[in-house]
Parts: sequence; C-alpha cells; structure tokens
Amino acid sequence: MLSSPLNKILLILLGGFLSWVGQACCQWKGISCNNITGHVEKIDLQNTYTYTLFVFDGEWEEMRKSSLGGEINPSLLNLKLLTHLDLSRNDFEGIPIPTFFGHLKSLRYLNLSYASFGGEIPAHLGVDLSNTGVTLVNVLSKLPSLLELHLPACQIESLPISLGNVNFTSLLILDMSYNDLRFPFPEWFFNLSSLRKLYLSGNFFSAPVPSEFESLKSLAALDLSFNDLAGQIPKFFGNFCNLKTLNLANNQFEVGIQELLGGLSSCPNSELESLDLSSNKLKSQLPASIGILHKLNYLKLYMNDMSGSIPESLGQLSELVHLDLSFNPWGRVFN
Ligand SMILES: *[C@@H]1O[C@H](CO)[C@@H](O)[C@H](O)[C@H]1NC(C)=O
Ligand SMILES: *[C@@H]1O[C@H](CO)[C@@H](O)[C@H](O)[C@H]1NC(C)=O
Ligand SMILES: *[C@@H]1O[C@H](CO)[C@@H](O)[C@H](O)[C@H]1NC(C)=O
Ligand SMILES: *[C@@H]1O[C@H](CO)[C@@H](O)[C@H](O)[C@H]1NC(C)=O
Repeated sequence: MLSSPLNKILLILLGGFLSWVGQACCQWKGISCNNITGHVEKIDLQNTYTYTLFVFDGEWEEMRKSSLGGEINPSLLNLKLLTHLDLSRNDFEGIPIPTFFGHLKSLRYLNLSYASFGGEIPAHLGVDLSNTGVTLVNVLSKLPSLLELHLPACQIESLPISLGNVNFTSLLILDMSYNDLRFPFPEWFFNLSSLRKLYLSGNFFSAPVPSEFESLKSLAALDLSFNDLAGQIPKFFGNFCNLKTLNLANNQFEVGIQELLGGLSSCPNSELESLDLSSNKLKSQLPASIGILHKLNYLKLYMNDMSGSIPESLGQLSELVHLDLSFNPWGRVFN
C-alpha cells in the first residue's frame, strides 16, 4: 500500500487542507488511488463552492476560504502514476503554471480552468513532439489501419527511420505542416502509395524535391508551400493526374512551369482545380496549355518573374473564379 513519503508529499503540496490527516491518503478528500497498486492516480481539487451571480459580503470570505492557492510543490512529481489533476476554480492569484506539470509523465487530464494562473503556458504542456521519433513509431505501429494523421505545428524535427513491420499503406491523409522537417525523408514515407492528401507546408525542405516523391502518384492534394524548395518544379508532378490542388507557393522555384502545365494538361481528364505557384522565382512564359485545365478555378502566379504575353487560352477557363497574375514583369500584354 502507500508508503509514508507519499503522504508527506501530499501534505507538503497543500498543507493545511483540513481533511488531510492521517496515513490513509487514499481516503482523503479529492484523492483517488489505484485500488490494486495503491498509487495515487487522481487528484481532484476542483473548488466545489457554487458561485452566484451576485456575491454578498459574506460570500467573498466563503469563496476565499474554499479556494486553494499558493505555491505548488514540485514533490508532486513523485506521484509518477498520477493521471488526473484538477485544480479548477481555485485562486492561485496569477502565479505562473508550474513548468514541472509538463513532466508529469502519466498525466492525461489537467484542468486549470478558472484557477487564476498567469503568465505563459509552459512549453512542455503543448504538443511538442520534437524528440519523439521513437514514440511516434510506437503510436503508428499500433494503428496500422490509420486513415488520417494530423500533426500540424508539433515541432517535429524528423520522422522515424523505420516503422518496423508496420504496413502503413492505408493512410490517406497526412498533415505535418508547420513542423521542423527537412529532407531526406525515410524510405517508408514513399511507400504511402494510397496517400491522397499530403500537407507539408511551413517546414524546412530545401531544393530539390527528391525523385522518390514520384511514387506518391495518387495524390489529390499536395501542399509544399512555405518551404525553401528551389530549382525545377519536378517534371513528374505533371504526371499526378489525380491532383486537384497543388500549392507550391513561397518557395524558390525558378523553372518547370512549362513541363508542369504541359504534363497536367495532357492527363486524360485533368482534375486540377487549384494551382498556387505564387512567390517563387519562376522565369518563363505562361504556356498556352493552361487553357486545357478546364476545371481550374483558382490560379495564383503573383510575385514571380514571368514575362511574355498572357495566353489567350486563359479565356477558355470558364470555371476560373480567382486569378492573380500580379507582380510579374509581363510584357507585350496589351499590344
Ligand atoms: C477497482 O476499480 C475499478 C475501476 O474503478 C472497479 O471497477 C473495480 O471494481 C475496483 N476493484 C476493487 C477490488 O475495488
Ligand atoms: C474543467 O473544469 C471546469 C471547472 O471546474 C469544468 O467546467 C470543465 O468541464 C472542466 N473541463 C474538462 C475538459 O473536464
Ligand atoms: C500492405 O497492405 C496492403 C493493403 O492492406 C496490401 O495490399 C499489401 O499487400 C500489404 N503489403 C505488405 C508488404 O504486406
Ligand atoms: C517499400 O515497398 C517496397 C515494395 O513495395 C518494399 O520492398 C520496401 O521494403 C518498402 N520499404 C519500407 C521502408 O517499408
């Protein structure tokens, strides 16, 4: 059962809490223990005082008395199996959320609502997965039938090199935008042959796009915007005949628009609805083949280095709703 150090810890934690006397801390108000191991699993110190809309003089005092406050002792960390911590509706008078909360490894539930903590939320409480390559494998390996994985803005720096024996080919949607990823990708990534939507914007990918990307042929949506990709837009993107949305904006691409549009427009039935190549360094002219992309409704080419005349075939795009060709040195347009 419970060892006495645990009692001490809890007493230090919130000394003066009236019902908390004696050794049997699992019986204390707000404490729940695992009924087999005897370890503290839950601390529920939600202030149960019922607020009324109009607080009378005497009630302020009542409220104050029923509220917990003050420093929270880091010895709480010794409760290694604590899964649930509720400190809501108390009054911690604007002190910062203790950073060590982020190290409560078993914690699954943390409620600090209406508890008057102040300052920044400690980084460890966010979904920071920067050092969790191995963990990610463990998670993924338990989910071989996973269809969608959304991990945007999790500070992930790299993908696990191996997924072990996991056949992860069922994945349809992968969103890892706004992380800290860079090339090279692990080999398994390019075996995601069913992938339909891939969102990798806002990472640190720099040129060139590796040729292995070619295996992701089923893609209907590809977003590589806000990276540092340069050189040529890969020719094989032109063979991605299921593409509905292609976003390569805010990179350093210089060439390849002819080949891309040439390829996409020779797809048996072009699906492309949205093309964003804005804020690159694309130099060439806009090819007349653009007119064959008859489903195109969104075309953004602003902030490039495109010149020449704007092809008349653009007028064939009857679905086009949004067109932005601004900030390019177009010439001879109105001649
Ligand atoms: C232990 O706790 C579980 C879940 O709360 C409960 O279902 C079970 O009956 C308890 N066992 C004993 C021996 O009290
Ligand atoms: C957190 O605590 C507040 C106040 O006690 C409660 O209203 C809310 O439902 C709790 N949130 C969750 C997610 O349990
Ligand atoms: C992986 O799973 C897919 C679909 O379930 C199946 O077609 C394929 O043969 C499997 N591959 C391997 C190497 O097990
Ligand atoms: C990728 O798929 C190929 C065959 O489709 C297989 O030989 C290879 O082992 C797979 N790689 C990984 C890392 O799963």
